[in-house]
Amino acid sequence: MNLPNLKEAKVRTTNEVAIKTDEYIVDPELKTFGKGKTYFVKTYGCQMNEHDSENIKAILEDMSFTETETMEEADLILLNTCAIRENAHNKVFGMVGRIKHLKQTKPELMAGICGCMAQEESIVEEIMKKYKWLDIVFGTHNIHRLPQILKEAKDKQEIEVFSIEGEIIENIPVKRDSKYKAWINIMYGCDKFCTYCIVPYTRGKQRSRTPEFILKEAKELVQKGYQEITLLGQNVNAYGKDLGISYNMANLLEDVAKLNIPRIRFVTSHPWDFTDEMIEVIKTYPNIMPYIHLPLQSGSDRILKLMGRRYTKESYMELFHKLKKALPHSSITTDIIVGFPGETEEDFEKTLEVVNMCEYDSAFTFIFSPRVGTPAANMEDDTPLEEKEKRLYRLNELVNQYAKKANDKYLGKIVPVLIEGRSEKDPNMMMGYTDTMKLVNVKNASEFVGKIVNVKITETKTWSLDGELLVD
Ligand code: SAH
Ligand code: SF4
Ligand code: F3S
Repeated sequence: MNLPNLKEAKVRTTNEVAIKTDEYIVDPELKTFGKGKTYFVKTYGCQMNEHDSENIKAILEDMSFTETETMEEADLILLNTCAIRENAHNKVFGMVGRIKHLKQTKPELMAGICGCMAQEESIVEEIMKKYKWLDIVFGTHNIHRLPQILKEAKDKQEIEVFSIEGEIIENIPVKRDSKYKAWINIMYGCDKFCTYCIVPYTRGKQRSRTPEFILKEAKELVQKGYQEITLLGQNVNAYGKDLGISYNMANLLEDVAKLNIPRIRFVTSHPWDFTDEMIEVIKTYPNIMPYIHLPLQSGSDRILKLMGRRYTKESYMELFHKLKKALPHSSITTDIIVGFPGETEEDFEKTLEVVNMCEYDSAFTFIFSPRVGTPAANMEDDTPLEEKEKRLYRLNELVNQYAKKANDKYLGKIVPVLIEGRSEKDPNMMMGYTDTMKLVNVKNASEFVGKIVNVKITETKTWSLDGELLVD
C-alpha cells in the first residue's frame, strides 16, 4: 500500500534507501550490536511469514543476539504479523499492551512490529499516534535492513516501510526451525488480486527467484541431510512467469526432484495455473509428494467471479478429477471462504455441493473478513454475521465428516512417516506426517527422529492417525 501522507522525518515509507544490491550485506560494526542480549520473535502468519521469522532470527544471531523462549526474558521483542483477516489486529495490539507493561520495569527493552500488518498504512498511522513506545516498525520488503533499522532506533521510533517491493535480496541468513524439513521461497508477492485478499498489497507484485539460487539452496539442504523441502509461494504454479525465460514450475519441480531429496512439497497452488505438464512431473517423480492444497474459496460461479478467481466450478472440478486420476493416492485439501459479500443460501449450497463431490482430506474454512483497500471491502454485504456463522458451522460439519472418512481409509495400512519429534497430545508418542500430509502419532519411535519409517495405522480420528512402528 502507498503511504503518501506519512512524511515525518523518522518515517521512511518509500524506497529512498534504494535496494541497489541483490546480496545481503551487514555493516561489520553491527555484528556485535546484540552482544549479551536476548531476542524473542512471535510469528502470526502463514508459512511465508514463518520463513521470514527464520530469516529475522538468523539476522539477529548474526548481530550476536541469542534467542529466548519467553517474552518476559527478552531484551528485544519482534511481532511478525499477518494481515489476512481482521482478528489479527486485536491479537497483535493485545501483545503491544503487554510490551508497554514490560517496558515500565525494563526501560532498555526494545520492541517492534514487522510483517504484513506493517505494510498497512492505517496500522502505521495507528502506531505513530497511539503506540509510541514501540521502537521499530519494518515491512516485508526490507527484512534485510533489520541491523540498520535497529541501530537507527537507539534513540527514536524508527519506522521503515517500503511501499514498493525492491529486487530480491539473496543470501539472507536463515535459522531453520527444523533439522529435517525446510522451506524454500521460490517467489515473493502475488499478482492475482483476488478481490478479498490483502496479500498483493502487503507482499507486492510477483517476483520469482532464479532457478540457480533455488537449486543452490536445495542442494545445500540435501548435503545437510534434510529429508523434506517445501517450495513456497502464494501461487507457486505461476512460478517463472515474471522471469522472462522459458522456465516454469514444472521445470523447477523436475530439477528439484532430480536432486534426490526424499520429499518435496509445494504450496500454494492456484487452480488457474495448474498445468498438465506439472501433473505429469508430479506423477513421474516419486519424491514429489502426493499432496495438493487446491483452494476452492467458493463453489458458486457468481461468487467466484466476484472474488476474481478466474475459474468456474466446472473448470475446478475438471482439474480436481484430472489430479485424482493421475494421482489416485493423493490427498487434496482446500481453503473456503463463507459469507463473501452477496453470498446467498443458494451460493453457499453450491459450495457444499463441491465439498460433497471432492470429499476433501481437510479444509481451512474462514468467514469473509473485509480488508481495507481491497475491492471486496466496498461490496454490499447484507448477510448478518449470525447467518455467516451458521454457514461456517454447517460447512465445518461436512468438512469434518469427509476428513474422518478420508482418514478411515488408512486403517490397517502401512504408510511412510517422517518422524519429527514428540507428540503434543501424548509425550509417550512421537509425531510425523505421511507422504499425503496426514498427522500420525506413533508408538516406540523415539530413536527415529528425522527418519522416514514405515508405520502401521491402528486408529483413525478426524484430524490425526495413530500407528505403530514396523520393524523388519
Ligand atoms: N495464495 C493462496 C492463499 C493465501 S491466504 C491462494 O490463493 O490460495 C490463505 C487463505 O486465507 C485464502 O485461501 C483464503 O481462503 C483466506 N482469505 C484470504 N483473504 C481473506 C479474507 N479477506 N477473508 C477471509 N478469508 C480470507
Ligand atoms: Fe491472495 Fe488470491 Fe494472491 Fe492467493 S492468489 S495470495 S488469495 S490474491
Ligand atoms: Fe498473512 Fe501475510 Fe501470509 S497477510 S497469510 S502473513 S502473506
